[in-house]
Amino acid sequence: MAVRIAVLASGGGTNLQALIDFLAARGELAAGEVVLVAANREQAEALGRARAAAIPAAAFGADDDGSALLALLREHAIDLVVLAGYLKRIPPAVTRAFHGRIINIHPGLLPDFGGAGMYGSKVHTAVIESGARSTGVTAHFVDDEFDHGPVIAQWRVAVKDGDTAESLAQRVLEVEHLVYPRVVDMVAALNGRDFFADY
Ligand code: GRF
Repeated sequence: MAVRIAVLASGGGTNLQALIDFLAARGELAAGEVVLVAANREQAEALGRARAAAIPAAAFGADDDGSALLALLREHAIDLVVLAGYLKRIPPAVTRAFHGRIINIHPGLLPDFGGAGMYGSKVHTAVIESGARSTGVTAHFVDDEFDHGPVIAQWRVAVKDGDTAESLAQRVLEVEHLVYPRVVDMVAALNGRDFFADY
């Protein structure tokens, strides 16, 4: 039986879309299925993308101890939680209950250019200002700290002369759309076996 995936988002949801499209294209071979999209804002475009794909979509209050999120995940019998542009910290009650079963994608090469407040164009601006010649994407397991858990996969992206935060963001996002759905499918294939008990 396919692993039941919840995607959490706060905004646009292009990674969600890439995941939905990838799993659909994989058909029977897909290890997981997106059965819930949840956002901490009613206005999150990701909710519209979910509805368009006939996936249950819900907004929830994220400013508590995690009980609203935990209840939602349990109600939908979720096995794997995929963060895709979700900007809130995951409360410890949830990281404990879903140890090794929450993953995130970050638009930079962690541990560089990560942490609280480092998201979206802030990451790319910081990369350019640092003079770094490369950046990339990082898929990682989620623990109680922002952008901190064990890395699953990274892909390097060159910073080109004349790059702006916008041009870099675009190339990095394109790589995210390739890498993240494949990582999600791989982690789903682990089927709940927790190989990362050391964090
Ligand atoms: C992506 O850059 C991702 O790395 C970060 O938030 C952004 C989300 O974009 N965590 P989208 O909502 O998937 O379009």
